[in-house]
Amino acid sequence: MSIAVFASGSGSNFEVLTEQSRKKWPEEVSLLICDQPDAGVLERAERLGVQAVTILPRHYENKAAYEKAILSCLQEQGIEWILLAGYMRLIGPTLLQAYPWRILNIHPSLLPAFQGKDAIEKALDYGVRWTGVSVHWVDEGMDTGPIIDQKPVLVEPGDDLHTLMKKVQFVEHHLYPNTMYKLLTGKISDSPRVRR
Ligand code: GAR
Repeated sequence: MSIAVFASGSGSNFEVLTEQSRKKWPEEVSLLICDQPDAGVLERAERLGVQAVTILPRHYENKAAYEKAILSCLQEQGIEWILLAGYMRLIGPTLLQAYPWRILNIHPSLLPAFQGKDAIEKALDYGVRWTGVSVHWVDEGMDTGPIIDQKPVLVEPGDDLHTLMKKVQFVEHHLYPNTMYKLLTGKISDSPRVRR
């Protein structure tokens, strides 16, 4: 059993997930799937010695074909879990059906507030006193799947995008690896709670 991370950006979450998986988890992050040829996460994968596969959606006819290409790569590597970490794309039925309740995402807000892109900026613009981080199961929606864990982050007077992002990412880098560790070791249930 092994774990793939999907990422589109700088990859700070990918890096802590990989490191923690090596130190602490019963399974390791063994594959990075990236959809951006110049994403910073690719350099991190090289430095950490994690196999990286860049699969560009524009090379495929449609989303199903794109996800089929990803799926065959995952199956070749025996991947059982998918962790989205700054992967800026919705997951479609091809991957959802192949990995039922085996795909997690991290989002930089206290969901259901500020779904989608630029969540930290939206929280600042709205003027909330508290924002935070959510780890949730992935479904077909945009940051809509059942929540597994959340941690708050205080928005202090004078915070700007840079300072708030730093605080949010600090919390992300603890919450995501810890949540996955708990799932892998049975400390929290790996079947989603059904919302009422
Ligand atoms: C993270 O803050 C993650 O929560 C966010 O992208 C960032 C990626 O940072 N994801 C989303 O906004 C998903 N809706 P990283 O590339 O340094 O890990």
